[in-house]
Amino acid sequence: MKKLKIAIDGWSSCGKSTLAKQIAKHLGYTYIDSGAMYRAITLFFMRNNIDLTDASTIENAISQISLRFIPSANAQTSEIYLNDENVEMQIRSMAVADEVSKVAALKQVRDFAVSQQQEMGKHGGVVMDGRDIGTVVFPDAEVKLFMTASPEIRTKRRYLEMAEKGIEITMEEVMENLKKRDHIDSTRMFSPLTQATDALVIDNSNLTMEEQLDVAMKLIQEKINLAQD
Ligand code: DC
Repeated sequence: MKKLKIAIDGWSSCGKSTLAKQIAKHLGYTYIDSGAMYRAITLFFMRNNIDLTDASTIENAISQISLRFIPSANAQTSEIYLNDENVEMQIRSMAVADEVSKVAALKQVRDFAVSQQQEMGKHGGVVMDGRDIGTVVFPDAEVKLFMTASPEIRTKRRYLEMAEKGIEITMEEVMENLKKRDHIDSTRMFSPLTQATDALVIDNSNLTMEEQLDVAMKLIQEKINLAQD
Protein backbone atom coordinates (compact mmCIF):
# COMPACT_ATOMS: atom_id res chain seq x y z
CA MET A 1 0.00 0.00 0.00
CA LYS A 2 1.40 3.40 -0.96
CA LYS A 3 2.46 5.43 2.06
CA LEU A 4 1.68 9.12 1.91
CA LYS A 5 3.39 12.28 3.04
CA ILE A 6 1.20 14.27 5.42
CA ALA A 7 2.15 17.92 6.01
CA ILE A 8 0.70 19.86 8.93
CA ASP A 9 1.44 23.58 9.12
CA GLY A 10 0.01 26.42 11.13
CA TRP A 11 0.47 29.01 13.83
CA SER A 12 2.32 28.38 17.09
CA SER A 13 0.43 26.39 19.72
CA CYS A 14 -2.44 25.30 17.51
CA GLY A 15 -2.21 21.67 18.48
CA LYS A 16 -0.29 20.64 15.37
CA SER A 17 1.88 18.12 17.16
CA THR A 18 -1.05 16.60 19.07
CA LEU A 19 -2.93 15.99 15.83
CA ALA A 20 0.19 14.85 13.97
CA LYS A 21 0.98 12.26 16.65
CA GLN A 22 -2.59 10.95 16.63
CA ILE A 23 -2.59 10.58 12.84
CA ALA A 24 0.82 8.89 12.87
CA LYS A 25 -0.37 6.42 15.51
CA HIS A 26 -3.57 5.72 13.59
CA LEU A 27 -1.74 4.96 10.36
CA GLY A 28 1.48 3.48 11.74
CA TYR A 29 3.43 6.34 10.16
CA THR A 30 6.48 8.15 11.57
CA TYR A 31 5.86 11.51 13.25
CA ILE A 32 8.52 14.18 12.70
CA ASP A 33 8.52 17.38 14.75
CA SER A 34 10.36 19.82 12.47
CA GLY A 35 10.08 22.59 15.10
CA ALA A 36 12.18 20.46 17.47
CA MET A 37 15.01 20.62 14.91
CA TYR A 38 14.94 24.44 14.84
CA ARG A 39 14.76 24.48 18.63
CA ALA A 40 17.76 22.13 18.98
CA ILE A 41 19.81 24.24 16.55
CA THR A 42 18.83 27.31 18.59
CA LEU A 43 19.97 25.62 21.81
CA PHE A 44 23.35 24.89 20.20
CA PHE A 45 23.64 28.53 19.02
CA MET A 46 22.75 29.84 22.51
CA ARG A 47 25.21 27.56 24.27
CA ASN A 48 27.97 28.65 21.90
CA ASN A 49 27.04 32.34 21.73
CA ILE A 50 26.78 32.28 17.96
CA ASP A 51 26.63 35.72 16.36
CA LEU A 52 23.51 35.64 14.17
CA THR A 53 24.86 38.41 11.95
CA ASP A 54 28.06 36.57 10.95
CA ALA A 55 27.53 34.20 8.01
CA SER A 56 30.78 32.25 8.35
CA THR A 57 30.31 31.73 12.11
CA ILE A 58 26.81 30.41 11.41
CA GLU A 59 28.10 28.12 8.67
CA ASN A 60 30.81 26.78 10.96
CA ALA A 61 28.33 26.23 13.83
CA ILE A 62 25.95 24.30 11.58
CA SER A 63 28.79 22.05 10.43
CA GLN A 64 29.20 20.95 14.07
CA ILE A 65 25.56 19.98 14.54
CA SER A 66 24.09 16.53 14.13
CA LEU A 67 20.40 15.94 14.81
CA ARG A 68 18.62 12.62 15.25
CA PHE A 69 15.21 11.47 16.40
CA ILE A 70 15.22 8.37 18.60
CA PRO A 71 12.10 6.61 19.94
CA SER A 72 11.38 7.50 23.59
CA ALA A 73 11.70 4.88 26.35
CA ASN A 74 7.94 4.16 26.25
CA ALA A 75 8.09 4.12 22.41
CA GLN A 76 5.06 6.44 22.33
CA THR A 77 6.96 9.23 20.61
CA SER A 78 10.45 10.16 19.50
CA GLU A 79 12.92 12.50 21.14
CA ILE A 80 15.47 14.77 19.58
CA TYR A 81 19.21 14.31 20.09
CA LEU A 82 21.69 17.12 19.51
CA ASN A 83 25.14 15.60 18.95
CA ASP A 84 24.11 12.47 20.87
CA GLU A 85 22.59 14.39 23.82
CA ASN A 86 18.86 14.06 24.46
CA VAL A 87 17.68 17.71 24.52
CA GLU A 88 13.93 17.09 24.32
CA MET A 89 13.36 18.88 27.67
CA GLN A 90 15.82 21.76 27.23
CA ILE A 91 14.41 22.81 23.86
CA ARG A 92 10.95 23.43 25.39
CA SER A 93 12.21 26.19 27.71
CA MET A 94 11.02 29.77 27.40
CA ALA A 95 14.61 30.90 26.75
CA VAL A 96 14.72 28.76 23.60
CA ALA A 97 11.17 29.79 22.60
CA ASP A 98 12.29 33.42 22.78
CA GLU A 99 15.22 32.90 20.40
CA VAL A 100 14.05 30.20 18.00
CA SER A 101 12.24 32.37 15.45
CA LYS A 102 15.34 34.47 14.89
CA VAL A 103 17.49 31.40 14.31
CA ALA A 104 14.84 29.70 12.14
CA ALA A 105 14.78 32.77 9.89
CA LEU A 106 18.43 32.27 8.82
CA LYS A 107 18.86 30.88 5.32
CA GLN A 108 21.75 28.54 6.21
CA VAL A 109 19.72 27.10 9.09
CA ARG A 110 16.70 26.52 6.88
CA ASP A 111 18.75 24.88 4.12
CA PHE A 112 20.32 22.54 6.67
CA ALA A 113 17.02 21.58 8.35
CA VAL A 114 14.94 21.32 5.17
CA SER A 115 17.35 18.96 3.41
CA GLN A 116 17.34 16.63 6.43
CA GLN A 117 13.54 16.76 6.62
CA GLN A 118 13.24 15.91 2.92
CA GLU A 119 15.60 12.98 3.38
CA MET A 120 13.60 11.66 6.38
CA GLY A 121 10.33 11.77 4.45
CA LYS A 122 11.40 10.77 0.97
CA HIS A 123 9.80 7.31 1.12
CA GLY A 124 6.48 8.57 2.54
CA GLY A 125 4.76 7.15 5.61
CA VAL A 126 5.48 10.37 7.51
CA VAL A 127 3.46 13.00 9.31
CA MET A 128 5.55 16.15 9.67
CA ASP A 129 4.42 19.33 11.38
CA GLY A 130 5.92 22.81 11.12
CA ARG A 131 5.52 26.08 9.24
CA ASP A 132 6.71 25.32 5.70
CA ILE A 133 6.11 21.61 5.29
CA GLY A 134 3.33 21.81 2.67
CA THR A 135 4.93 24.75 0.86
CA VAL A 136 8.70 24.10 0.88
CA VAL A 137 9.68 20.75 2.42
CA PHE A 138 7.04 18.58 0.70
CA PRO A 139 5.17 20.66 -1.87
CA ASP A 140 4.16 17.26 -3.32
CA ALA A 141 2.60 15.99 -0.05
CA GLU A 142 -0.65 14.14 -0.75
CA VAL A 143 -2.24 15.61 2.38
CA LYS A 144 -1.77 19.18 3.58
CA LEU A 145 -3.46 20.56 6.67
CA PHE A 146 -3.24 24.12 7.91
CA MET A 147 -4.16 24.58 11.56
CA THR A 148 -5.40 27.68 13.25
CA ALA A 149 -7.18 28.69 16.48
CA SER A 150 -7.96 31.96 18.23
CA PRO A 151 -5.02 33.68 20.00
CA GLU A 152 -6.79 33.40 23.38
CA ILE A 153 -7.29 29.67 23.07
CA ARG A 154 -3.73 29.11 21.85
CA THR A 155 -2.36 31.14 24.78
CA LYS A 156 -4.43 29.21 27.28
CA ARG A 157 -3.39 25.84 25.86
CA ARG A 158 0.32 26.72 25.86
CA TYR A 159 0.07 28.23 29.35
CA LEU A 160 -1.51 25.05 30.75
CA GLU A 161 1.05 22.89 28.97
CA MET A 162 3.92 24.86 30.52
CA ALA A 163 2.29 25.00 33.96
CA GLU A 164 1.94 21.22 33.84
CA LYS A 165 5.68 20.94 33.26
CA GLY A 166 6.27 23.19 36.28
CA ILE A 167 7.48 26.16 34.20
CA GLU A 168 6.66 29.44 35.97
CA ILE A 169 5.17 31.88 33.52
CA THR A 170 2.23 34.28 33.20
CA MET A 171 -0.51 34.21 30.54
CA GLU A 172 0.74 37.61 29.30
CA GLU A 173 4.26 36.31 28.78
CA VAL A 174 2.95 33.32 26.84
CA MET A 175 0.77 35.52 24.63
CA GLU A 176 3.65 37.93 23.96
CA ASN A 177 5.90 35.05 22.93
CA LEU A 178 3.27 33.57 20.60
CA LYS A 179 2.59 36.95 18.98
CA LYS A 180 6.28 37.66 18.49
CA ARG A 181 7.00 34.23 17.01
CA ASP A 182 3.99 34.33 14.70
CA HIS A 183 5.07 37.74 13.45
CA ILE A 184 8.68 36.70 12.75
CA ASP A 185 7.66 33.29 11.34
CA SER A 186 5.14 34.76 8.89
CA THR A 187 7.15 37.79 7.74
CA ARG A 188 10.66 36.33 7.37
CA MET A 189 12.29 36.39 3.93
CA PHE A 190 12.96 32.63 3.51
CA SER A 191 10.02 30.21 3.51
CA PRO A 192 7.68 32.21 5.73
CA LEU A 193 4.63 30.57 7.27
CA THR A 194 1.95 30.69 4.59
CA GLN A 195 -1.03 28.55 3.89
CA ALA A 196 -0.50 26.21 0.91
CA THR A 197 -3.28 26.86 -1.61
CA ASP A 198 -4.17 23.17 -1.60
CA ALA A 199 -4.25 22.80 2.20
CA LEU A 200 -7.37 21.98 4.20
CA VAL A 201 -7.77 24.63 6.91
CA ILE A 202 -8.76 23.35 10.34
CA ASP A 203 -9.76 25.96 12.92
CA ASN A 204 -9.82 23.92 16.10
CA SER A 205 -10.88 26.74 18.48
CA ASN A 206 -14.12 24.92 19.15
CA LEU A 207 -13.24 21.34 18.25
CA THR A 208 -12.46 18.52 20.61
CA MET A 209 -9.38 16.41 19.85
CA GLU A 210 -11.64 13.60 18.59
CA GLU A 211 -13.55 15.94 16.27
CA GLN A 212 -10.34 17.37 14.90
CA LEU A 213 -8.93 13.89 14.26
CA ASP A 214 -12.18 12.91 12.50
CA VAL A 215 -11.96 15.88 10.13
CA ALA A 216 -8.34 15.12 9.30
CA MET A 217 -8.82 11.35 8.92
CA LYS A 218 -11.72 11.83 6.50
CA LEU A 219 -9.47 13.73 4.11
CA ILE A 220 -6.55 11.36 4.64
CA GLN A 221 -8.69 8.29 3.93
CA GLU A 222 -9.87 9.86 0.65
CA LYS A 223 -6.28 10.51 -0.35
CA ILE A 224 -5.20 7.00 0.63
CA ASN A 225 -7.99 5.54 -1.53
CA LEU A 226 -6.99 7.77 -4.43
CA ALA A 227 -3.35 6.79 -4.10
CA GLN A 228 -4.21 3.06 -4.47
CA ASP A 229 -6.12 3.58 -7.78
O1 DC B 1 6.50 24.15 16.24
P1 DC B 1 7.40 24.85 17.27
O2 DC B 1 6.68 25.91 18.05
O3 DC B 1 8.13 23.89 18.14
O4 DC B 1 8.50 25.58 16.37
C1 DC B 1 9.51 26.37 16.94
C2 DC B 1 9.91 27.48 15.99
O5 DC B 1 10.60 26.92 14.88
C3 DC B 1 8.76 28.30 15.41
O6 DC B 1 8.58 29.52 16.12
C4 DC B 1 9.17 28.57 14.00
C5 DC B 1 10.24 27.57 13.69
N1 DC B 1 9.83 26.59 12.68
C6 DC B 1 10.03 26.91 11.37
O7 DC B 1 10.46 28.01 11.06
N2 DC B 1 9.76 26.01 10.40
C7 DC B 1 9.27 24.80 10.72
N3 DC B 1 9.02 23.91 9.75
C8 DC B 1 9.03 24.46 12.08
C9 DC B 1 9.31 25.39 13.05
